[in-house]
Order: sequence, then structure tokens, then C-alpha cells
Amino acid sequence: MDNFAFVIHPIDPKRDVERKFPLLGRLLPVSAINFLSRFFPPIYISHITGIRSAATGKEIEGWFVACPLTPARMMQLPTPVAYHKIVQTGHMAEKLGARLLGLGAFTAVVGDAGVTIASRLSIPVTTGNSYTIAVAVQAVREAAQRMDIPLSQATAAVVGATGAIGRVCAQLLATDVPQLILVGRRMEALEKVAELTRQRGQAQLQTTTDITAIHRADLVLTVTSAIETIIDAHHLKTGAVVCDVSRPRGVSRQVVEQRDDVLVIEGGMVDVPGDVDFGFDFGFPPKTAYACMAETMILALEGRYESYTLGREITIEQVTEIERLAEKHGFRLAGFRSFERAVTDEYIEQIKENARRKRGGA
Ligand SMILES: NC(=O)c1ccc[n+]([C@@H]2O[C@H](COP(=O)([O-])OP(=O)(O)OC[C@H]3O[C@@H](n4cnc5c(N)ncnc54)[C@H](OP(=O)(O)O)[C@@H]3O)[C@@H](O)[C@H]2O)c1
Repeated sequence: MDNFAFVIHPIDPKRDVERKFPLLGRLLPVSAINFLSRFFPPIYISHITGIRSAATGKEIEGWFVACPLTPARMMQLPTPVAYHKIVQTGHMAEKLGARLLGLGAFTAVVGDAGVTIASRLSIPVTTGNSYTIAVAVQAVREAAQRMDIPLSQATAAVVGATGAIGRVCAQLLATDVPQLILVGRRMEALEKVAELTRQRGQAQLQTTTDITAIHRADLVLTVTSAIETIIDAHHLKTGAVVCDVSRPRGVSRQVVEQRDDVLVIEGGMVDVPGDVDFGFDFGFPPKTAYACMAETMILALEGRYESYTLGREITIEQVTEIERLAEKHGFRLAGFRSFERAVTDEYIEQIKENARRKRGGA
């Protein structure tokens, strides 16, 4: 049977360790989990069954395997140590018989974004970032429509625009909106992204290292690899949409607690075709997955055992192709969620109403 494996890792150390090891998760403080994660071996999580192509009827199976390092540990430890742990996890996937390995969240961020890891394994590796880009941009477009924000008049912002995902999202959004703000940490790198973006779209560009610039944006896509949140309640314009692709989150919970006039959605959640059983609760509703997981599934359904997305230079062509294959097999953007809760039509109507009132009052 065609198959794949996908590497996950704890993001919220206590909550995620507790999902697999209830006692350890409850007893150990975060600092101890972070410290001990370096010494844990890779962990077999579950067997995934029931993914079925809507186009061909083909069914595939897969496995979740976990790299025990938390994002903080992956960034603090010397990169070769993180590589070693991820490669060990890859070896576990190889022993299970996996023919393709997907790298989840920070295992795709660390170092050279999968290149070294792929060179040390005998099976191909993909970060899943091509489909993550496609789904993030789809989510921004759909959220704009549901919030009655016409793209043709909107100002958008990409936070983390110099990253692997951010750079291509910027190029795609530049074809939709007249004004685009590129936010990053390094001006020189931002200028390079701006140059690329100008070749793609007509949007007028602003490059900045100042996060407060997003206060002008109607649509914000945030995709940094910061360990801590970087978008707070006071950063956002009334009526804005924020699509948070970062894992761990880039948007502070304070935003939904203090701002009932902005919509925050999680980017990257998709419906999986078939009657999928992941054998593990990674915190999403049943039959939905992260877009990066979905990319690995799509490639297995296609029988394309190749390192589809590796490194930080992702092309629009890769994104367009995986988007087409996703549609063919029946993967699609799932309903929106905001801080673990489903976003209903009523919720969106309420935000729009609050924003209208606030603008009226102002
Ligand atoms: N939701 C999903 O399905 C999904 C799938 C894949 C990845 N992700 C998440 O997407 C995020 C980005 O991934 P990527 O592959 O694009 O990573 P990347 O290539 O390493 O890019 C990260 C970006 O974040 C910026 N950054 C890092 N630390 C920062 C900080 N403290 N403050 C502000 N900006 C900071 C970097 O700036 P510099 O260029 O200056 O370093 C860069 O622009 C990660 O959180 C990852 O876990 C989510």
C-alpha cells in the first residue's frame, strides 16, 4: 500500500506531552520537559488509516512519529544536535516501512529547512511548506470575503516575509491587493523579497522592521518562527483579519480576549478525504489536518516519492502544482478556527457589527 510518515513534536510542552504520557505531562514542569526532551528517544505515536482519494479511490496509510524536542529546545540546542534527533526519528519511519517523510512545524524550520535531514535518510523528505502556502493564502482570501473586505481595496501585511513560507505568500498576495506591507527583522532581506514580489504583482510595497506598521492592514498573515507571540491587541486595525500560520502561535490570546472587532483564524487547517483515523488527537477536529501533513499525504496518493519541498527557496510553480493535486484528491480548506474554537457565521457577523460600531463611535 502507498504510505508516508510524518514527524510531529510537542509545541505546548505540558499539553502535548500530556496527550501521549498523561502522568509525565501532569507532573513535570515545562522547564523539566524542555530539559529532558534532549535525552528522550524518538517516539512512535500512531498508525494512520482511511485516507482515500476522491479522484482515484486509492487508499493510503501512514504513521505519526515524534521528535521529542520542543521548539524552544530546537532553537537553543546546537543545530547538529537537533538534526541528529530528527534524523533518528526519520530512521524510525524508515523501519516502519514509510516511503516518504513529512517534517512537521519546527522540524522543517531548524537549520536549512530539511536539506541536511533528507541527505541523511534513505527515503525522500518534504517540509509540506508548498501546500501550507497555498492554504494560508486561500484562508486569507476566504476570510476577507466573509468579513466583507474587498481585496481590490485592501491593505495586506505579511509578518515574517523573509521566511520560506512568508516570501511566497507575499508574492501571491501582491496579485490580490493594491497595498502590501512586508514585515521582517532584516531590512536587506526584506528588500530582496520586495524585489521578487514586484515581479509578481502590482501591489505597492512597504518594507519595515516595525511590527506596529500592521496597524494599517485590513488583512494580516503572520508566519514567523518566533517562539513567543509577536502580535498583540493594540497592533490591529478595527475590522482586521489575522491569519496565524505560525506554530507556536504568533498571535497573543490577549487579542481575542480584548478585541471583539477583529477576526483571528488559524491558517493551515484542511479537510482530509476518506474516513481518516489518525489514531492520535493532535488537537484538531476529526478528519482535518495541518496543510503540511496534507502535502505528504497528497504526494503518497500520487505515488510521488520525491523530496517535493526542501529548503527555503520555494517557487510559485510548486505551490500551484500541489494545490492542483490537493483539489484533485479532495483536500480543501477546512472551516475556520480561532484559538481551538470553530468560527461560526454568527461569530463573524458579531465581529463585523462590533467593528462597524467602533468605526461609527470613532
Ligand atoms: N500551520 C501549518 O500548517 C504550518 C506548516 C508549516 C510551518 N508552519 C509554521 O510556520 C512558521 C514559519 O515557517 P518557515 O518554514 O517559513 O520558517 P523560516 O523559513 O525559518 O522563516 C521564519 C521567519 O520568521 C522570522 N522570525 C524568526 N524569529 C522571529 C522573531 N523572534 N520575531 C520576528 N520574526 C522572527 C524570520 O526572520 P529572519 O529571516 O530575520 O530570520 C523569518 O522571516 C513556523 O512557525 C512553522 O512552525 C506552520
